[in-house]
Amino acid sequence: MKLAETSSDKGNDGMGTAEKTVDAGSPLALRREMIEQIGGCWTTQVIGVAAKLKVADHLANGPMRYQDVAAAIHCAEPSTKRLLRAMCSLGLASQSDAETFALTPKGELLRSDAPNSFRGMALSWTTRLWNAWGGLEGGVRTGEPSVISGSAGFANAAANPELADVLNQAQADRTRGPAREVARTYDFSRFTEVADLGGGYGTVIAEILKANPSLKGAVFDLAYLEEKTLAFQKAEGTGDRFRFVGTDFFTEVASGPDCFVLKSILHDWDDDDCRTILKAVAKAVGKGGTLVVIEQVLPALADADPLHHSAFRTDLTMLLGTGGMERTEAEYRALFAECGITLNRILSNQSEFHLIEATVD
Ligand SMILES: C[S@@+](CC[C@H](N)C(=O)[O-])C[C@H]1O[C@@H](n2cnc3c(N)ncnc32)[C@H](O)[C@@H]1O
Repeated sequence: MKLAETSSDKGNDGMGTAEKTVDAGSPLALRREMIEQIGGCWTTQVIGVAAKLKVADHLANGPMRYQDVAAAIHCAEPSTKRLLRAMCSLGLASQSDAETFALTPKGELLRSDAPNSFRGMALSWTTRLWNAWGGLEGGVRTGEPSVISGSAGFANAAANPELADVLNQAQADRTRGPAREVARTYDFSRFTEVADLGGGYGTVIAEILKANPSLKGAVFDLAYLEEKTLAFQKAEGTGDRFRFVGTDFFTEVASGPDCFVLKSILHDWDDDDCRTILKAVAKAVGKGGTLVVIEQVLPALADADPLHHSAFRTDLTMLLGTGGMERTEAEYRALFAECGITLNRILSNQSEFHLIEATVD
C-alpha cells in the first residue's frame, strides 16, 4: 500500500505542489509514524490551549486577521499566528492569506456554544489529565494512580466546584455521541424506569428518554451533582419523566427502576470495588432485572487497530486518574459471574463504546 503525502503551498513560495509517496511499513513510513507519535503531546496542548483561550468562539463569525484574534484573546500577535497555523495543521482552522484564518467544521467543535462541543473535554486533558499522564512512569512501576484517585478523587471533585465542572462537562462532551448510539441501537421501551447509575449530568438517560417518549428515567449519582444535573435535564427537555436520586453506590442503591445503565462506571474501579457496586445494583434491580453496562471492551489480544486506540488510551488514563481499568469480554463475564449476574450479549455500534447486556440471576 502506498501512503500519499501531498503538500500544497498555494503560491506562498512559488514552489508548486510536491507529492511524496512512501510504502506503508517502509523505513521512511515507520520513521514518520515514530516522529508523529513521539511528539503526540502537541495535539493535546494545541487543542486544549485553543479551547482555553476560546479561539473558536472568536472565529465563529467568520475569517479574521490573526492580529484581531490576538487582540480578542489578549495574546501576543506572532505567537497567536503560530497557534492558528498549528490549528490549521490539525484541521481545526484554515488559512486563506498571510494574515487571515477561519474555523473549519472540526474547529467548530471547540466552540463553547456548539451543540456537540468538545471544549470541556479539551480543557480536562490540558489540566487534570495532563498532570496525571506526567506520572505514567510511576504508575507503571507501582500500579498506583498518579493523582488523588478512587473515592477520594470523586470527593475532591465534590468539594471543588471548578474541578467538578471541568470533570463533569468533559464527561458529558465525551458521552454525548456514544449515548445517541446506545439510544438508537438498543430497545429500552420494554422498561418502566431506567436509572443512569453514576450518570453525571445524565447525558445517557437524556438520549434514552428522547428516543422513548413514554419511558421514565433517573440519574443516581453523588448528591452534590443534583442542581447541575437538573439544569442539564431541563435544557434537554426530559421534563417530569426525570428524577435525580442522591446515591453513594458503595453504601446502597435504591430500588425502583427495572433497568440500570452503568456508562463508564466499572472502568473507574478495581475488581473489588466493582464487585461492591455490582452487588448493590443487583440487589436494587432484583432477580431477572437488567443491567446495561456501556464500556470500551478491550480486544482479547492487543493490536494496532486505530479503532482500539481510544480503549487502550483510556485504560492507562484510568490507571493514572482513578485506579480503574478497561477490561476484555472474558474479564467482564467473570466479574459479573462473581456477583450473580449473567452477561447475555455485547452489542457494538458506530461509537467506540460497547453495550453489555446482563441479567441478575
Ligand atoms: C466517569 S464518570 C461517568 C459519568 C457518566 N456515566 C458518563 O459516562 O458520562 C463517573 C461518575 O460516577 C460518579 N460517582 C463516583 N463515585 C460515586 C459513588 N460513590 N456513588 C455514586 N456515583 C459515584 C461520579 O460522580 C461520576 O458522575
